[in-house]
Amino acid sequence: MGKTSTILSTLLVALGAICAVAADDQAENEIVESFVWTLDHTNYSHIISQHKMIVVEFYAPWCGYCQQLEPKYEEAASVLNSHDPPVILAKMDTTIPENAELARNYTHNGVPSIKIFRNGGKTVHDYKGTRETEGIIAYLRKHAGPASLEIKSKEDAASLIDEKKIVVAGIFPELSLEKIQNFTALAEDLRVDYDFVHTSDAKLLPRGGPVDKPTIRLFKPFDELYADFEDFQVEAMQNFIEETSVPIMAILDDNPENQQFVNHFLHSPGDKVFLFVNFSTDVDAFKSKYYDVAVSYKGKEANFLLGDAETGKRALQYFGLDTNQTPLIFVLDMDGSKYVQRHVQPDSLASWLKDYKDGKLKPYLKSQPIPEVNDEPVKVVVAETLEDMVFNSRKDVLLEFYRIGCKYCEEFAPVLDEIALSFEKDPDVLIAKIDGAENDIPRDQFEVQGFPTLYLKSATGRLSRFEGNRTKEAIIEFIQTNRGTPAPSNFVKSDLPVSEQAQTDPVKDEL
Ligand SMILES: *[C@@H]1O[C@H](CO)[C@@H](O)[C@H](O)[C@H]1NC(C)=O
Ligand SMILES: *[C@@H]1O[C@H](CO)[C@@H](O)[C@H](O)[C@H]1NC(C)=O
Ligand SMILES: *[C@@H]1O[C@H](CO)[C@@H](O)[C@H](O)[C@H]1NC(C)=O
Ligand SMILES: *[C@@H]1O[C@H](CO)[C@@H](O)[C@H](O)[C@H]1NC(C)=O
Ligand SMILES: *[C@@H]1O[C@H](CO)[C@@H](O)[C@H](O)[C@H]1NC(C)=O
Repeated sequence: MGKTSTILSTLLVALGAICAVAADDQAENEIVESFVWTLDHTNYSHIISQHKMIVVEFYAPWCGYCQQLEPKYEEAASVLNSHDPPVILAKMDTTIPENAELARNYTHNGVPSIKIFRNGGKTVHDYKGTRETEGIIAYLRKHAGPASLEIKSKEDAASLIDEKKIVVAGIFPELSLEKIQNFTALAEDLRVDYDFVHTSDAKLLPRGGPVDKPTIRLFKPFDELYADFEDFQVEAMQNFIEETSVPIMAILDDNPENQQFVNHFLHSPGDKVFLFVNFSTDVDAFKSKYYDVAVSYKGKEANFLLGDAETGKRALQYFGLDTNQTPLIFVLDMDGSKYVQRHVQPDSLASWLKDYKDGKLKPYLKSQPIPEVNDEPVKVVVAETLEDMVFNSRKDVLLEFYRIGCKYCEEFAPVLDEIALSFEKDPDVLIAKIDGAENDIPRDQFEVQGFPTLYLKSATGRLSRFEGNRTKEAIIEFIQTNRGTPAPSNFVKSDLPVSEQAQTDPVKDEL
């Protein structure tokens, strides 16, 4: 997974109501009578392969959001069971180890994760409806029907084109089989993100003029309100829809109708600019100035979001920022670098962004405070001291990346202490640790896919990653073998084989 996609998944966790997947938790007992089918590793593939459409909730019994969803999902299942044809809702407990393996592909962003499997599992879509009973029913009813609905009258148009959503209309004044096929294929593919309709008569549609050849018309509740497109190549239509549906300024607040546009913003390519202000006090002072700035960057690979500090609290925390630093502007660029200005004023938004674009700003690092006392055998490194203590030190530095609450890190802590003690008399060696969840790690230097991860930065600047079994002996040998300063003369290199890679807790547990 790339750097930005890791950040993206974490942001989705931070902004949405989902639990990050934890490694070791207990399953609980099941309820007995239910319209929701229970799938497990013994029958999952078979059941999915037999259905044209089946909805599966991947869940963990310990996750509070899953518990909240359960009665609503159950009620929706009982109603949808008598839909014609019935819509099947199923669930799978991801804490059962054999299930976890199967579920892994569907729980990157955490649980609950609801997926719609179609055509025997050949296509899989995210469920993007609400988590309320009525919302689940309405959403799945619609998704059990055709991907695009036909508009034959003004009444159809009024009921099918939801003024609060993005609706893509295919207008076919003449019969063009291939264009209709392409449009239908696209509608199948993107139906969970957008509503699709088609008609032969543009006059029935709420906005836009008549057309004389097949046209895609996208309706949206913001900015220019509709846009037309005439190229029916599948990729071109998809790009048009994705670009046109990112608002000039997405709004993040507690209005659930805005969430879909926040998602389009998060998935958009390019730099992402976030302005967090307190919506109950500061929004008026910022909104129009920020909007003007956003307009001036339109089409320049930057997308803009205006967020309420309270709603965006967890996203701010994830980046090591705080609501009391708002009004705050923040850029996440395409490489995953971050830039921030706390307590920004409405009149300085434009000049700050210009400085950013001109490359005049220094990236912002999330860092714990520099510890005042650092006299334990294992020294504490934070993002702000990484350069000095590790890269610029002329020592051989063994650096552990750990995270609070990680089981393997806790097991390893006493071993690391012993290693530090055994090097206490060696002035050239430093044993250190950094909390990889609370500090930004330069990902171009260190590949940290789980905790704990160990690296040696030799006195000559070479980085080596420890891949062996985390025993005291193996690590001491690793240090002695890879160090840049002379090893003590009594060190004898043994011929211990390098063992298979030790277990780690996944990084994405960090929220
Ligand atoms: C799948 O197998 C599990 C375990 O045997 C069982 O409890 C469940 O009812 C089965 N699901 C279906 C839909 O048959
Ligand atoms: C998970 O996804 C990968 C890549 O798309 C695929 O090869 C693999 O079979 C999938 N695993 C399961 C259990 O579906
Ligand atoms: C339909 O889509 C395919 C794939 O993008 C494309 O090659 C073809 O030209 C499209 N047909 C029309 C009529 O645009
Ligand atoms: C926003 O402002 C209101 C009114 O001053 C205050 O009560 C609230 O705590 C503020 N919210 C945040 C997230 O700072
Ligand atoms: C790794 O170390 C553990 C004890 O710490 C030991 O049980 C295991 O056999 C070792 N594995 C290898 C491959 O050396």
